[in-house]
Parts: sequence; structure tokens; C-alpha cells
Amino acid sequence: MSEEVKTIGVLTSGGDAPGMNAATRAVVRAGIAAGLQVKGIKRGYAGLLNEEIVEMDSRSVAEIIERGGTILYTARCAEFMTEEGQKRGAEICRKHGIDGLVVIGGDGSFRGAGKLAELGINTIGIPGTIDLDIACTDYTIGFDTAINTAVEAIDRIRDTSTSHERVSIIEVMGRHAGYIALWCGIANGAENILIPETYDYDEQKIIEQIIRLRRSGKTHHIIVNAEGVGHTMEMAARIEAATGIETRATILGYMQRGGSPTCKDRVYASIMGAKAVHLLKEGKTKRVVAHQGGEFVDYDIAEALAMTKEIPPDFQTVSQELLRV
Ligand code: ADP
Ligand code: F6P
Repeated sequence: MSEEVKTIGVLTSGGDAPGMNAATRAVVRAGIAAGLQVKGIKRGYAGLLNEEIVEMDSRSVAEIIERGGTILYTARCAEFMTEEGQKRGAEICRKHGIDGLVVIGGDGSFRGAGKLAELGINTIGIPGTIDLDIACTDYTIGFDTAINTAVEAIDRIRDTSTSHERVSIIEVMGRHAGYIALWCGIANGAENILIPETYDYDEQKIIEQIIRLRRSGKTHHIIVNAEGVGHTMEMAARIEAATGIETRATILGYMQRGGSPTCKDRVYASIMGAKAVHLLKEGKTKRVVAHQGGEFVDYDIAEALAMTKEIPPDFQTVSQELLRV
């Protein structure tokens, strides 16, 4: 058990995600409700090292639960990857009286949080990334909003694709993980879902499938491609050349990371934010809040970072069985 915390800090780090504001609001309000002083640290670890630290009160998080992005801004910080940077970060926390810190971000941000915890700052991580690529949790802040945004965009592309009887290949975000592509591909009824975890890179098989389905009367062919597989433009050109069917490529890009968070992202982020504060209040440190098996839980950061997760078998089955006929 660590010493009782009196002042907590909150920062957002890595790629932003819709719902981060809801989590920040929950940290601030749960902190105040628990009798703690709360400080906001702007621009992630970069802002910590630059001492961009502001007092937060209940009003400073008013009217942000419905807003995308992060009012605290976010950044990546190379200096914080160094031992010297981490020591300076811990000293700056102490200088500002911050004895507890909530870090909202992905795996990288949790590594930084783990280092601060080892240097004596009570630290709790909250999973915030649209990619769902944090092994210890089946929910990450922003994923639900991102997939709903992407699904709507792909529906629109499908309309025009069908009218022109084209093949459409749509790239969604996920540099290292295919969860966005997998969920959207199933929800949009895509004919192919290409994700880094399972794609066999057999493009000829896709080409033959397109030709077969076109002969059987299908008027469109949607391929949802994960950023981690990439080469979307080149693939479209090759497919058009091989099939003789007009093929268009769309990269959805950053529009997936913005926008007002869904109800689920607002609610789960709120619960996780409050839980992080409760853990700090109980004297816990070096933990990460997670959602597993229908419950909000917490794990040691090092244990959480050592976990791995696989694409659930049911998702694999559905993505393979339903999409190729
Ligand atoms: P995410 O948190 O979304 O995974 P990054 O991997 O870019 O995003 O990490 C965000 C920031 O966390 C980095 O810019 C860096 O400041 C910090 N960070 C990442 N990895 C480490 C590490 N191994 N040790 C200390 N800090 C780290
Ligand atoms: O937020 C996660 C993510 O969207 C990845 O899918 C993507 O590869 C990455 O962030 C890109 O972010 P940035 O361009 O800000 O580094």
C-alpha cells in the first residue's frame, strides 16, 4: 500500500479517441467528490515535462462529455522514453504536489505510466484507443464510436459502388490490429475482410472470388482492408486489371478518430474514469482499468502489458462463412 493521495493529475496520451473527454470529466468529478485536488496535464508526457499543468474544477469539465478529441490535447514524447525523462517527469509531479496520476492512452502510454509508478508516483492507466488493441481488456475508449463512424461511411460507399457495379476497397484504421476492419466488415456485409492477424495475402483468391460472384449476379463487391495490411491503392489497381471490373479505393483515415462519442463510449469511459480515482483513493498504484467478461476490473500494468489477445473464434467463423457466397 502506498501513501494516501491528496492531489491527482490526469493526462491523455498517444492517439486521441472519442470518449477521452468523458473519462477526463469522470476523473475530475470523482476526484473532487473524493475530496482530492485535481490537476490537468496538457499534451501527455510532453506537457508533463514542459510543466503544462492546470488546476481542474468541476466547471472546467462542463459540456465536454459529448465532445470528440481531448480537451487536454495529446502528444507523443520521445524524451519520456528515456530514463532521464521519466525521472524528470516524476520530479515534476512531486514539485506540483501530484502524488497520483491517471493516464488515458494505449499500451505505450501504459509503459510510461508503469515507469512513473516505479519512481513513486501512484499511477493508474485507462485504455483509450480506437484500435481495441490492448490485450487485457475487451473494451477500449473510442472503439465503439470509430466503428459506428466507419460503418456509416462504408454504407455510403456501398450505395455508389452498387449503382456503378464496381468493386470498392475501403481502408480503415488499425496499424497493428484488425479489430476495426473485422467489426465493420461484418456489419457492412463486406465480401472480404483483410486484417493483419489472419490475411494470407492470396490476392489471386480474391480476384477469382470477385469474378465468380459477379457471374452469379452480385452487383457490388466490398473489401474492407485494415491499415495494417495496407497497399489499398495498389490492390485496387491490380484487382481492376485482373478482373476488368472498375475498382475504387477509399482510405477513411482520421475521420474515424473524431466525432461525438457514442453512448457506450461515454458511459464506459465515465465508469473507468471514476474507477481509476477509486483505485488511487484505496492506495493502489501501477494498475490499469479494464473491462473483461462483463465487468470492470483492474490489473497490474506489467501483467496487463504481457497479456496477448486473439481474434475470437466466432468472429473468424462469421467473417469467413458469411461473406463469400
Ligand atoms: P499509445 O499510448 O496509444 O500506445 P504511443 O505508443 O505513441 O501511443 O505512446 C505514447 C507515449 O507514451 C509515447 O510518446 C511516450 O512518451 C510514452 N511511451 C511509450 N512507450 C514508452 C516506454 N517504453 N517507456 C516510457 N514511455 C513510453
Ligand atoms: O489511434 C490509433 C491509430 O488510429 C492507428 O490506427 C493509426 O495507425 C494511428 O493511430 C495513426 O495515428 P497518428 O497518425 O496520429 O500517429
